[in-house]
This record gives sequence, structure tokens and C-alpha cells, in this order.
Amino acid sequence: MAARHTSVETKYYADRDRVLKKLRNCDRRTFLKLSAATMGAALAKGLMPPHTFQLVDVARAAVEKGWDSTGAQGSPPFRFAYISDAHLYERTLNQRFVRAIVKAVDDVNALDPQPDFVLYGGDLAQLGSPAQLEMGRQILSGLKAPVKMMVGEHDWFLDMGEKWQEMFGAPTYSFDWKGIHAVVLMSVYEKDFWTARKMTPEQRMQTVAGLDNAVQSRFEVGEQQREWLKNDLAKVPTTTPILIFSHSPLYKYYRNWNFWTEDADEVQAILKPYDKVTVIHAHTHQMLFNRIGNINFYGVLSTAWPWPYAPEGLPPLTVQMNRADPFDQFDGCGDGQFTARADGLVDTIYNLWDRNPVTVKADYLISHGSVDQPPAPQFASY
Ligand SMILES: [Fe+2]
Ligand SMILES: [Fe+2]
Repeated sequence: MAARHTSVETKYYADRDRVLKKLRNCDRRTFLKLSAATMGAALAKGLMPPHTFQLVDVARAAVEKGWDSTGAQGSPPFRFAYISDAHLYERTLNQRFVRAIVKAVDDVNALDPQPDFVLYGGDLAQLGSPAQLEMGRQILSGLKAPVKMMVGEHDWFLDMGEKWQEMFGAPTYSFDWKGIHAVVLMSVYEKDFWTARKMTPEQRMQTVAGLDNAVQSRFEVGEQQREWLKNDLAKVPTTTPILIFSHSPLYKYYRNWNFWTEDADEVQAILKPYDKVTVIHAHTHQMLFNRIGNINFYGVLSTAWPWPYAPEGLPPLTVQMNRADPFDQFDGCGDGQFTARADGLVDTIYNLWDRNPVTVKADYLISHGSVDQPPAPQFASY
């Protein structure tokens, strides 16, 4: 049965479809102009996407409950947004993923007030080509808020990160954000499986892009970067809240699909002395939360597709999102935001497209989190 929309929604979708039709044949410069124009027109007419309304409303409710940085009623949210895992192909091959990341840029640009920054979580390209990365860069340049970039394996293994770094700079860096020390890691290094096999760069990239094979090695942060992390954190008091961004989960979830970081235990040991640590990761394309010791982990949504949950290794804290309609491109995909609390931990809103947003508070992870606990009920419907 066709979805029923209100007149505002019908008008919004009609406008959006008209612009998307034009996008199919335009060059990149025109493409961005059109994308910005859709948003501008929607704003001017009060026709924001229905699901963006929900996102903003939830953010306001959060502030009223006082879990922003100061706890004061009505103070501006202290937050950042994210967009991740767009997996862009060249436009001639795939339009769907382009539409999805443009939708996410529109979502984030509609936030009022704007987030302090937008994390891009990696896998901007599908097969790491300059054309794919450049298209992604241009689309993300349409964001109003500053963007913090993270690299994914799909961006890296065609030319070992050369083009990505030329566009976005070093993949490992840290910054301080309103009392929180934040670190962006490159967590998808692999041991050399390609030289001995005489693989071309394309074969290497294709191999890494396939999750379920016996050829590639497992992702790792690597010794050199772990040393860098130790040195970076050495100057930070253990009472300072730490926020780590990594593309792969910094724990061992499911090895066969590379939902896994080989040296996760070593990285967790470096983070252990700190009172409050949050790790936000991409790559798994699903709502995913975990707590190990002092560390809260959140997986983020993809704009391109939702991965199924792995058949084993799922953290007990994770309540699985249910993809009810696989024929809806956007079902199970989305973007989201994180709000910092007075204690330095973060709460998150999963902005699942075509569903109600889902809020997960750090308290849930802290009060339920233990690797010794039996699995929680695994399915919820939205
Ligand atoms: Fe991905
Ligand atoms: Fe990935």
C-alpha cells in the first residue's frame, strides 16, 4: 500500500523528486548548486523533510531535560552530527548512494542551531577512485558546519591513501572540544597480503572491499599509531573526557566480516587510565552499542545500506534495528548526532530515515554494561 503523506510532506517530496530528476544528468558543479537550492527552497517555504522535523524536535526535548553541557534549561545543545559510509560510485554507475548522502547533508544543514562540527565517518568512496572521492568531497563541502574527516578502508586501498590525504590531510589527529579531548584514528591498516600475490591496486581494493574472504588481513591501528596515541594522551589529565573516532569498531565483534580491529585490546589498554572514554565508530552500518570497562562504544548509521547483524559476537547491549522494508532504499540507513553531557559522556540520536529517531543515553550503557551479563532481548520495532 502506498504511504500516505500530509500535504506538506507531499509538496516536499514532489520538490525533492523534481530536483533529483535534474541531478541525474547534471555536472558536479550544477549538482551541488541544485542540492543547495532544494534546501533553500524548502526552508523558504517551511517545507523541511518530515524526518528532519523529528530530529530537531528530539534535540530540543533533550535540552529541556538538561543533558546539554551546562544542564541549564534552554541553553544551546552542545553537540556534533555525523554522516558516514556513503560508498559513492561514479554517477554513471549508481545514483542511489548519491541521493542518500545529499539527503544526509540536507538533514544536518537543517539543524537549528547548527552542530559544532560534523564527523564524516569514512568509506566516502566505494572503490577509492579519485572521481568517487572528489564527488564526495564536493557534496560534503555543501555542509554549513565544519567537517572532521575520518578515513575508511574503501577510501584507502586503491592508492594506499594518497588521494584521500591529498584532499583531506593526515588521517590521524586530535583536537580539543569544549573540555573534551577528541582523537581521530586510522583504524583500517592491513598487513601486506597483496605483494606476494602480485595484485594490482584494483585487485587489492576489490579484495579489501569484500568483507567475507580468506585473503585480506584484519584491520589494525598498528604499533606506530598506538605509540602516537600514547604520546598524544600523555599530556591529557585522566579526568578529562576522551572521545575517540575510529572507522572500525575498537573491539572484536565478528572476525569473518572484518567487524573487528586486531589490536583493539592494546588500544583499550591505552585508554584504560581515563575516567570517561567514548569510542564512536563507523563501518558496521547499524545501531550498535557496547561497553567494555570504562569505554562506551557507539556504532553509527550508513547512508548507503544497513549491514545485517553478525551471527555471533553481538554485544549484549545492542538492541537490533529491524529493517522492515528492504525495498525502501532509506530504511535502516540514516545519520545522527551526539550531545555532550555535563559529565563529558555523550548521548546519541540515531536519525533512522523513514522511522522514528532513536535516542540512546550513556546511562543505558553504564547501568547495563558488562561483558559478563547475559544477552539482552535482541529485537525492537520502531
Ligand atoms: Fe562502510
Ligand atoms: Fe568500512
